Amino acid sequence: MIIFGGVGDLAMRKLLPALYMAHLHGNLPPGTRIISTGRQEYDRAAYLAFVEEHSRPFISGENFTDEAWRSFQQLLEFVRIDVEKDGMAPLAKVSRPGAERVFYLATAPSLFTTICDKLSEAKLVDRNARVVLEKPLGRDLASAVEINEAVGRHFEESQIYRIDHYLGKETVQNLMVLRFGNSILEPLWRAPNITSVQITVAEEVGVGSRAGFYDSAGAMRDMVQNHLLQLLCIVAMEPPASLAPDAVRDEKLKVLRSLRRFSLASIARDTVRGQYVRGVSGNQEVPGYLEERNVPEGSSTETFVAMRAYVDTWRWSKVPFYLRTGKRMARRSSKIVIEFANPPFPLFPETPGGVANRLVIELQPEEAIKLQLMAKQPGSGMQMQQVALNLDLQSAFSQRRAEAYERLLIDVVRGRLTHFMRRDELEAAWEWADPIINGWSALAEKPNPYAAGTWGPSESFALLARDGFSWVE
Ligand code: BG6
Repeated sequence: MIIFGGVGDLAMRKLLPALYMAHLHGNLPPGTRIISTGRQEYDRAAYLAFVEEHSRPFISGENFTDEAWRSFQQLLEFVRIDVEKDGMAPLAKVSRPGAERVFYLATAPSLFTTICDKLSEAKLVDRNARVVLEKPLGRDLASAVEINEAVGRHFEESQIYRIDHYLGKETVQNLMVLRFGNSILEPLWRAPNITSVQITVAEEVGVGSRAGFYDSAGAMRDMVQNHLLQLLCIVAMEPPASLAPDAVRDEKLKVLRSLRRFSLASIARDTVRGQYVRGVSGNQEVPGYLEERNVPEGSSTETFVAMRAYVDTWRWSKVPFYLRTGKRMARRSSKIVIEFANPPFPLFPETPGGVANRLVIELQPEEAIKLQLMAKQPGSGMQMQQVALNLDLQSAFSQRRAEAYERLLIDVVRGRLTHFMRRDELEAAWEWADPIINGWSALAEKPNPYAAGTWGPSESFALLARDGFSWVE
């Protein structure tokens, strides 16, 4: 496993802890070597000390043992590479002939082309090699195509693993089982039985130390184009013929291609951009986005997006998909809410809350599936009340739940592509997102302010209220 960007934030916080966990549970093949690369001058001891300081804190106490950590450290090496200057000679020198290689590109995407060219020149890419590409994969369709072309010159599509870590989350994978491992939902899973779908990925954290990257991306490129669209695909896709990577990805691609395109008029009507201002989060006063370190003065980057999207297919005809994501929201909460049509004839007095049946799939931090039904309130009369059938996945299963990165890295090692994005999927997602992003710049409107620690700007509530819906908190 060769990690480019081996001293970076992602390697320290996610990749090495995930590889440690995979090692602890015996999921790395015997003889695995983990070679981190970077431009820094480290000898092995200095690199190990760096990892000790910056990566070990991300391994939780209950998973940490001195013995496992020591044996994990033995897998680690560091190779200094200045790609522009030395090419891959330093790597070729330590690489064993015939080794099965995974190249993990955790660098800025601007380096992907050079890295792949140089790997190829150094004859390190053979039929067994795999390459893992971290997001952001481009900032629009044109740059995504460019990256895909460059990587595709040296790797076959079946050797390319484009990571969207949401596809590695236990609850997201469970969504496939919920839909396709049960038969009771399928007959209902369509218009007009379903009247709306809500997908929320709310974060409590702010932009933190990542403004350098984030300000040029915004919530649309950082979250909607990838994570939210992938969730939407799993909710909306037709049953695949098998779990083979292309069977699943073909179905997701059809959803992406059926997403209704936005026009300037629908952008103005059906999308909401927001940016957080000073507020209270977790009982503490926190700065607004414009006050965060490294955010350019007067930036109009959005930290919140809400929108009404449509999947124009027979199954989903006229069903609105409301998407919402933001930083510094009231709390961390990712959930999918499916609202079902009310009974056609109102036999009982008014439905409290207006909606009789909802399926709520909580992805994080809680992992639960709740089916809201109507029940009779005890007592005289026929008053209804909402009750929930509640499946708490954390207590239903006692097994350890692996982090998304651990699961996906094991998939890469075992050559399983199902939970990674194919080139055409990625490009279809950009094809849909580009006109929205360009439309926002053409309209030149400032994002709507919302106080940190809230559920976003009021315009986002109005977006649903207009159709007679409301966000389920
Ligand atoms: C990343 C985004 O892809 O996902 C971050 O770049 C975001 O901005 C993160 O915070 C959220 O991931 P999770 O797993 O914490 O929901």
